[in-house]
Amino acid sequence: EGEGGGGEEYLFKIVVIGDSAVGKSNLLSRFARDEFDHNSKATIGVEFQTQVVELDGKEVKAQVWDTAGQERFRAVTSAYYRGAVGALIVYDITRKATFENTKRWLEELNIHCDTAVAKMLVGNKSDLEEIREVSVEEGKSLAEEEGLFFIETSALESTNVMKAFEIVIRAIY
Ligand code: GTP
Ligand code: MG
Repeated sequence: EGEGGGGEEYLFKIVVIGDSAVGKSNLLSRFARDEFDHNSKATIGVEFQTQVVELDGKEVKAQVWDTAGQERFRAVTSAYYRGAVGALIVYDITRKATFENTKRWLEELNIHCDTAVAKMLVGNKSDLEEIREVSVEEGKSLAEEEGLFFIETSALESTNVMKAFEIVIRAIY
């Protein structure tokens, strides 16, 4: 679909979800602009960025949507999820509660999207090893139980961020 200018084009909508302050917006800014903000403010409403990724010699456009983890700042949920083919469910490895809440985020995702969505469980802030509250094994086993990909990332140190998005895009594509 979308044959234009001689080449095929792919546009994939990917949503990023998870509790407030787990680093969703910084994962997106690292992915799309290679930027990190130490003083980022809580997201209000919805933002998105489109990034072209080259995959096996083909251009793939990833439209990544980011919303507020805080309930009071969230926009209309069904519109946020509509048309999504990939999802990053993010927690903060230094806050156990954010890991436990990924189950609720998954439930919301499953209500609004069909099962074909490629899902990646993301344990962010891997640079903060000394104050870790969620082990790699815990992350892995939850991902296995729920049928998700799993990766740990650091938006700060730029570890595995591109890889996280790439794995999801590859699974869709
Ligand atoms: P909401 O918009 O409220 O849902 O939060 P969010 O998930 O978008 O979090 P955000 O990206 O704004 O990051 C929250 C805080 O965590 C900020 O102070 C970031 O600088 C910090 N942060 C994000 N990613 C990392 C990381 O990989 N490592 C470390 N050490 N800090 C991070
Ligand atoms: Mg945010």
